[in-house]
Amino acid sequence: MVEEDLGLERVNCRAKGASSGFKVAILGAAGGIGQPLAMLMKMNPLVSLLHLYDVVNAHGVTADISHMDTSAVVRGFLGQQQLEDALIGMDLVIIPAGVPRKPGMTRDDLFNINAGIVRTLCEAIAKCCPKAIVNIISNPVNSTVPIAAEVFKKAGVFDPKRVLGVTMLDVVRANTFVAEIMGLDPREVDVPVVGGHAGVTILPLLSQVKPSCSFTQKEIDYLTDRIQNGGTEVVEAKAGAGSATLSMAYAAVKFADACLRALRGDAAVVHCAYVASEVTELPFFASKVRLGRNGVEEIYPLGPLNEYERAGLEKAKKELAGSIQKGVSFVKK
Ligand code: NAI
Repeated sequence: MVEEDLGLERVNCRAKGASSGFKVAILGAAGGIGQPLAMLMKMNPLVSLLHLYDVVNAHGVTADISHMDTSAVVRGFLGQQQLEDALIGMDLVIIPAGVPRKPGMTRDDLFNINAGIVRTLCEAIAKCCPKAIVNIISNPVNSTVPIAAEVFKKAGVFDPKRVLGVTMLDVVRANTFVAEIMGLDPREVDVPVVGGHAGVTILPLLSQVKPSCSFTQKEIDYLTDRIQNGGTEVVEAKAGAGSATLSMAYAAVKFADACLRALRGDAAVVHCAYVASEVTELPFFASKVRLGRNGVEEIYPLGPLNEYERAGLEKAKKELAGSIQKGVSFVKK
């Protein structure tokens, strides 16, 4: 008992003195994405303090993950009354809270439940850690990012550089599928995926793949369709047991790690993300962004598009406009 008390005291000291790393909160940490995401963030040497918040089972997941012999100190927070404590002092907040799709559902079908969850969580972020970088995973991302922005505007703390919709899974899938058909190592492939994160708004720019690849029209049709419907492929394979969780946790950690490296001051950290943007006439758009100490430091233009991609862009913009408007009106009404 005494030893346990002593141990805890030391852990507390370590958490307080953890100035060398970053403080990260995961909201929705007990979920299908949240659990593997929490595990992978506990393995990240850039993280000194990891706060795991959920409305169920937060303490169970925390007890489990806290036994991993990596340096981050882990703390659990359960229920709305502990939300603010979970957020105070955080550098990065990752939000995978909310319901996932079932077969036959679109991401937009999740709006009614997830919009309210994201609004509540962002209200608390605005109050407790308004300078944190926020990574939004909860769907429909095309609407939840505008919701977050409106909540922060209402609270007078909106910084467009700090609110990022996570579209990394689309890039991860695109890299994998392109590597598969070209016989390449996926780690060496870089496919820009722009637009948004749902159906036709997911626009892979196959003309800009690195290393430079030339595809037949049949391959372009196949790849575009598979990248746009990769999420549905997993939802159907899981047959009612949820949507992508493991590949999503991997993608979320890849993106969160990039945000932390940029916060540390690393140069040339460039990834696609769905952010407040002037790349098109829409107020939010996913494209390549350079991350830095303040979040999004630079948003890159789309580059030259071929005719197929230009047609895809028009379709994507049309759908995105409606999703953005829906998110904005939800907070304004
Ligand atoms: P899940 O249902 O397994 O987990 C969600 C977690 O959120 C649960 O533990 C639940 O208790 C928690 N939660 C619910 N209300 C909450 C609240 N008010 N505050 C804090 N936590 C709350 O769902 P899963 O599979 O982890 O998916 C989570 C979200 O991520 C879904 O909206 C899903 O559509 C989205 N998603 C996004 C992707 C992307 O590429 N951006 C890819 C895959 C999923």
